[in-house]
This record gives sequence, C-alpha cells and structure tokens, in this order.
Amino acid sequence: MRRAKITIIGAGNVGATTAHWCAAAELGDIVLLDIPQTEGMPAGKALDLMEASPIMGFDANIVGTTNYDDTEGSDVVVITAGIPRKPGMSRDDLLNTNANIVGSVAEQIKRTSPDACVIVVSNPLDAMVQRAQQVTNFPPHRVMGQAGVLDTARYRTFLAMELGVSVEDVSAMLLGGHGDTMVPLPSCTAVGGIPVTQLIAPERLEEIIQRTRDGGAEIVGLLKTGSAYYAPGAATAQMVEAIVRDKKRLIPVAAYCDKEYGVGGYYVGVPVILGSKGVERIIELELSDSERAAFNQSVEAVKKLVSRMAELAAG
Ligand code: NAI
Ligand code: 2OP
Repeated sequence: MRRAKITIIGAGNVGATTAHWCAAAELGDIVLLDIPQTEGMPAGKALDLMEASPIMGFDANIVGTTNYDDTEGSDVVVITAGIPRKPGMSRDDLLNTNANIVGSVAEQIKRTSPDACVIVVSNPLDAMVQRAQQVTNFPPHRVMGQAGVLDTARYRTFLAMELGVSVEDVSAMLLGGHGDTMVPLPSCTAVGGIPVTQLIAPERLEEIIQRTRDGGAEIVGLLKTGSAYYAPGAATAQMVEAIVRDKKRLIPVAAYCDKEYGVGGYYVGVPVILGSKGVERIIELELSDSERAAFNQSVEAVKKLVSRMAELAAG
C-alpha cells in the first residue's frame, strides 16, 4: 500500500516537532523543507529522525530538503514557515513578513502539490490561512488552519490538572480566532460525560478559560527565546492523521466560513468533520447570547487582521 506523502514547510521548532509526532505515529513518508540559507539543517533533522526509527519502531522515509521538487505530489502540506516576533518588531511587521513568506510557500505548493490538503500553522494564524487559500486558489475546504486543537488541548490539560483526573476524560470545544478573543465553550465541555459546570465553580472556570487564552504567552514567558512547539506539533499531527487516515474527527479547525455562523468569507475556528477530503462539514452550534457576542467579537478581530494584511500588501 502506498504511504501518504506529508510535506512540512519550515523545519524549525514546530515543523520538526510535527515531523517527529507524524513519524512516531507512522502517518506516512515525510519531507521537511526549509529555505536554502539553512543549508543542511532540514536534511540533518530528517536523518536524525530516521535514525530514531529502529529504536522507536516506526517505518517512514524522512527527507530534508530546500528543493520544492522533492515535495511533488504531497497528500498533505503543513506550513510552519515564518518568523516569530522579535524585540523592536511591530505586529504589522510580523503580519507583513509572514504573509509574504506564506504567500511564496503557497505559490510553490500550488505548482508541486495541486491536490494536497494544506494545514497552515504560521502566525497570525487566521490571516495566514486566508493568504494560503488566496494564493493557492485551492477549494477552501482543502486549506485550513491549526489552532483549535492546540487551544482545546491546553484547556483540557488545565481542567484535568484542576480536577485531578485523566486528560482522556476531558472533552471540550472552542470557537473563534487563535488569539486573545478565542471562545472556549463551557456548554460543550464535559468530564467523563458530566458537564464541567457541575464540577467547577463559575469563577474558577473563568480563571481556567483565561489561562487557556493566555496559553501561548505563558509558554513564551517561560521559554524566553521562542514559542511553544511540542503541543503545537502534536495538534498539527492530529489533523494530519485525520486526513491521511480519513478519521472523520470532529475537532476545532480554522475553516472557511461563508454562510456558516454568518461569518461571510473568512477563516475562523469552528467545529468541523475532518477527513480525507479536508474539511468535510462545518458543525453549526446553537450559541447562547453571550457565546454569540464573544464569537462575533472574535470574528471582527480576524476581519481586522485580514484587512490590515490587504492594506500592507497594497503598500
Ligand atoms: P522557528 O523560527 O523555529 O521555525 C520557522 C522556520 O521557518 C525556520 O526554520 C525558518 O528558516 C523557516 N522559514 C522562514 N521562511 C521560510 C520560507 N520562505 N520557506 C520555508 N521555510 C521558511 O519558528 P517555530 O517556533 O517553528 O514557529 C513557526 C510559526 O508557527 C510561527 O509563525 C509561530 O508563531 C507559529 N505557531 C503557531 C501555532 C499555532 O497554534 N497556530 C503554535 C506555535 C507556533
Ligand atoms: C501558541 O499559541 C505561539 O500561537 C502560538 O503557542
């Protein structure tokens, strides 16, 4: 049987860690690509990971490269290319630089893997996934962003820590953009099937939700030299698995919403069914008034980011 071909663009912290989780789960053969200036770095990381395979017992061909020809015919392409914010840089600098990087990567993917599903990870996430879709012009259901799997994982971790239970028994859903305005949904959060609202007092639950919103910044504050990568890599690998194994996972994904939730043509985090065709269905939840208001606020933040990206591109 032919193995799936998974290309990961950007062999930095998130890209290499995504490759690690994908290889360990035997999701397919992996191509790890970075820019020519990185010289042997992607090849070195790929070889190092291959050499772990006899120990960990996985079969996968893992190649590191700077040449897009090696990525040809990929089933899934993950984009982690970009720069993190550095001292002295504005959010606009990051937005503009990463939009240019993601745009150039998307041009190459369009040429080499026209049938691929594309998972964008680069930040600012909701704008970058929009950019990747605009440039590839792939059907919107084949281009998506990873944020919600990571954000719900953080939320589930904090809830399990609070209650002293297994993370496996905590399920949750959230909506909105990947940022301060994300909307965790207590109404869709359960522990062993019991609504979380029966187990944790409202004020304490709100503190846990706020810690979830600040989850990325908490790691940056501890690491000081970069942002999170173990959990982001695992979250991305879960999305790759849903596609290559046609798992039909019901998970939060930054998906293209037009009429759905009345969004009007933007990528935002919503519950979807993820399978071999990409985003196969968007699940529309009934929201309470406060959830709807918080979701609308999050969508407005995404729209502002996307229009700022367009202004910067127009010069
Ligand atoms: P990193 O700096 O470790 O790696 C980025 C890599 O991209 C570098 O190796 C760099 O050489 C490469 N790169 C730059 N331009 C490129 C191009 N044109 N083509 C190919 N590769 C290129 O950064 P890290 O930690 O891996 O983060 C990557 C991105 O993911 C950042 O934008 C970060 O903010 C974002 N991120 C998003 C998360 C999410 O949940 N959506 C979670 C964590 C990080
Ligand atoms: C995170 O949430 C930086 O988006 C990244 O960790």
